[in-house]
Amino acid sequence: MNRARLMVDKDFNIGSIDRRLYGSFVEHLGRAVYGGIYEPGHRTADREGFRTDVIDLVKELDVSIIRYPGGNFVSNYYWEDGVGPVGKRPCRLDLAWRALEPNKIGVNEFCSWAKKAGSEVMMSVNLGTRGIEAARSLVEYCNQPGGTYWSDLRISHGVKKPHGIKVWCLGNEMDGPWQVGHKTANEYGRLANEVGKALKLYDPDLKLVACGSSNRDMPTFPQWEAEVLERCYETVDYISLHTYYDDPEDDLATYLANSIDMDTFIKSVKSTCDYVRAKTRSKKTMYLSFDEWNAWSFYHSFISKGLDDTVEPWTTGAHQLEDVYTFKDALLVGCLLITLLRNVDRVKIACLAQLVNVLAPIMTRNNGPAWRQPIFYPFLHASQHARGESLDVRLESPTYDNAKFGDVPYIDAAVAYDVENERLTILAVNRNPHESILLEGDLRSLKEYTPVEHILLEHSDLKASNNTGKPRNVVPRRGAEIKMDSGRFEAVIPKLSWNVIRLGRR
Ligand code: AHR
Repeated sequence: MNRARLMVDKDFNIGSIDRRLYGSFVEHLGRAVYGGIYEPGHRTADREGFRTDVIDLVKELDVSIIRYPGGNFVSNYYWEDGVGPVGKRPCRLDLAWRALEPNKIGVNEFCSWAKKAGSEVMMSVNLGTRGIEAARSLVEYCNQPGGTYWSDLRISHGVKKPHGIKVWCLGNEMDGPWQVGHKTANEYGRLANEVGKALKLYDPDLKLVACGSSNRDMPTFPQWEAEVLERCYETVDYISLHTYYDDPEDDLATYLANSIDMDTFIKSVKSTCDYVRAKTRSKKTMYLSFDEWNAWSFYHSFISKGLDDTVEPWTTGAHQLEDVYTFKDALLVGCLLITLLRNVDRVKIACLAQLVNVLAPIMTRNNGPAWRQPIFYPFLHASQHARGESLDVRLESPTYDNAKFGDVPYIDAAVAYDVENERLTILAVNRNPHESILLEGDLRSLKEYTPVEHILLEHSDLKASNNTGKPRNVVPRRGAEIKMDSGRFEAVIPKLSWNVIRLGRR
C-alpha cells in the first residue's frame, strides 16, 4: 500500500480557528427563503411560518454566521420594504434573479429565524442602487436600542430588543458587470470608505467587509483589491473572496485539485492586502472573509452566458440553482474546507454558499421533507470537530501529475487542536481513484493522545446523491481502526474518501 506521512507539533500552529469559518449564506433567491426556510402551512412550520425541520438541520450543522440577504439580490434591495406590517409591504421586481419579491421576510423575520437556528447574522447592504443613507439607517434600525427615529420604528414594528448585528458586508461583487450598480474600483473603494466611515461613527466595534473580486478569473483581479483597499484600508476589517468550482470536462483529477486554486487565490489576496498595507504605511492587518465558496455545476457557462439571458416569467420561489450534489462534490468540499483551515491566519470568516435549496447542503420539497445533500457531511464534521487551533501540518504524500495544477498530492489534510477539550482532529481526503493510502502520523508532542473515532465518507459511485426516495444513499460511516503507539498512528485512508480521525487525551 502507498504511504503518506503527516507531522504536527502542538506548539506550531497556523492560527486559531475562528468559529465564523463555519458560516453560510441565505439569499433571497429561488427557494432559499420562500419554500426553504419559510413555508407557512408546512406541517413543521412554527408560528412565524419557519420550517422547523430545516431549522433542526441548520442547528445540526452548527452554522456560526449566516450572510443575508444577498448576493446579487442585495444590490437592488430596499430593506424598508421588508419591515412593518406584512400586509402593507410592497411586492417588488428583483432584477438580479428576475423574481417577484413579496417582502414577507425581511430583516426582523430573518434575525428571528437565525436566532432559532443558533446563528449570528452577517448583514449585507445595498451599494448597487443605494449608499450611505440606506446603510446607516439600516444599522440604526437593527442595532440602536431606542430613542431615535429608526430604532423607534423597529420598536413600533414589535421588535423591542435590538438585533446587535456585528458583521456588515459593504455591497456584493461590485466588480461584476452583472451586478446592478456595478462600479469601478475607484468608485466602489470611495463609496465603501464613506459608508464604512458612517457605520463606524455610529459604532467603532462593527466589523466591515469590503468587496473583493467575484472570483480569481475576473480580468480586474487583483488590481481591484489593490485599488479598493487603497481607498478604504483603515476603515474596513475584511476583504471578501468568492469562488465556485465546476467540472465541465468531467475530469475528476482536475476537479479535486481545485483546492490548490483556492489556496493560490487566498495567498494572492493576502499578498495584495500586505502590499496596500506597505504602501499606506499602515500597522493594521487586513483579514479575509471567504463569504461565498462551494461547488456549482455549470458555473462557468452560467457566468459566461450572463445572468440575464433567460426570459422567464416573474415569479416567487422558482426552482433556481438547485444543484443536486454528488459524492464527488462532497470530496471537493472536503478539500476546500482543508484549505480554509490551512489559511486561518488570515481567513477569519467563510460562508458555504448557500444553505437551503440554492447551491445548498440542505434541500426541501414544498409540502414535503427536508434532506441532507452529500456536501452536508464534510461541513458538519469540520464545524463539529475542527475547533481550536489549526496546526502547521507537514505532509509527505505521493502525487499525481495534472495538466492544470502540476504535482498534486493524493492526500490533503488539516489538523485541528482543541487544547481546552483535549481533542485533536485530522481531516483528510484521498484523491487517488484507485488505491488506499496508509497515513502514518507523527504526533511527537501529543504522545498521550489515543483514538476516539474514525469517520469515513466513501461511495462506489462518484455521481451518487441523496434524494427524497434515498435520503441516506451517501452518508458517513465508521472507518477502519486507527493504530496508535506513543504519538505515532497509522490509518488507512481508502481511495476517494473523506476522513475524520479524532483523537483525545487519555
Ligand atoms: O450564490 C449565488 C450568487 O453567486 C450570488 O448571488 C452572487 O454573489 C454570486 O455570483
